Amino acid sequence: MRLALHGANPAEWLALRLGLVPTAAAQAWAGMGLSGIVVAAVRTGVTERLAQGPATVAELVGELGLEPVPTQLMLHCLRSFGHVSCSAGVYRLSRSSRRWLDPRSDLSVSRYIAGTADYWDWWSGLDEVTRTGKVSVSHDAVADDPYWRRYIYGQLDLARLSAREVARKIRLPASATSLLDVGGGHGWYSAEICQRHPKLTATVLDLPGSAAIGREIIAAAGMSDRVRHRDGDATLDDLGSGYDAVLCFNLVHHLTAGHIVTLFGRIRESLSPGGTLAVMDAFAEPARGASAAANFLAMFVYLSSGAQVHTPAELRIWLRKAGFTRPPRRIRMLRIPGQAIYLVRK
Ligand SMILES: C[S@@+](CC[C@H](N)C(=O)[O-])C[C@H]1O[C@@H](n2cnc3c(N)ncnc32)[C@H](O)[C@@H]1O
Repeated sequence: MRLALHGANPAEWLALRLGLVPTAAAQAWAGMGLSGIVVAAVRTGVTERLAQGPATVAELVGELGLEPVPTQLMLHCLRSFGHVSCSAGVYRLSRSSRRWLDPRSDLSVSRYIAGTADYWDWWSGLDEVTRTGKVSVSHDAVADDPYWRRYIYGQLDLARLSAREVARKIRLPASATSLLDVGGGHGWYSAEICQRHPKLTATVLDLPGSAAIGREIIAAAGMSDRVRHRDGDATLDDLGSGYDAVLCFNLVHHLTAGHIVTLFGRIRESLSPGGTLAVMDAFAEPARGASAAANFLAMFVYLSSGAQVHTPAELRIWLRKAGFTRPPRRIRMLRIPGQAIYLVRK
């Protein structure tokens, strides 16, 4: 995937081709604006209200307690992004955006978008981080910081996009009874896997701030009898034992190489003979090629936790060092391009 400027007409297209556009200026100026407008449209309730039905600016202003001028300007921008359409002064959420922006949709990413406002401070500190190498680690927030709610509900939105596919692709024996989900946050992947395996129950081990929100999410889904959250630090605390499978999803990009090898080794010990470790993450070669998404993700991961995106080759080495003798099987995820699940058996 590439993030790029596109000409809106032949003259603009030609100017871009001829190198007449200061693209760096456009990136600096418009990148912030794009984010700001979409985040504000979600956080002010504009997209949610339009998902319920068409509305004029006056109706949006009256119902949501907004100011007319910025509301109108925001709608113009949303229209040019393709998120809303307008006919005779009445705005509608566009069909293509409804599935992502209507909070009632199973594919909604509204809570994720709202949570991305937390990233603005991180990005604005990037020059200082580049000078000093000092990042403020997001997972160090105190357990009752409202950050965890925004973060974990945002992660839940993303997980809902792929959880069925993940649960289908991780095949466990019908006799499987116990699953550990390390850094499982919301617990949604565990819940989907438990739905497919009637005898299975899951333990989600996560930091207290995440686990508190995960418990709430699982209780609301009526799954608390099958998915249990345990407060803990996976790099320090006992993992338990006798698991048929362990999930380690989107955690290792927060950890250093040393921590990962030790964690994989402890996971191996916690598995029953023949048990499965499933690692899902964005393993990429950031420096290679022009994959803006991989490079962007690598920068973001460093900024948010001081860690790095790892490569598939590193993962294989770490698994071997941790005692998994057979190489992992790689399963591509259709719902999350760039991500894959790596399965190894004890
Ligand atoms: C990006 S989220 C991934 C959540 C979920 N596994 C998923 O794939 O959607 C990373 C999770 O790892 C958790 N985490 C980070 N460091 C951890 C640690 N040392 N021990 C346990 N959990 C940790 C975070 O609290 C968060 O819930």
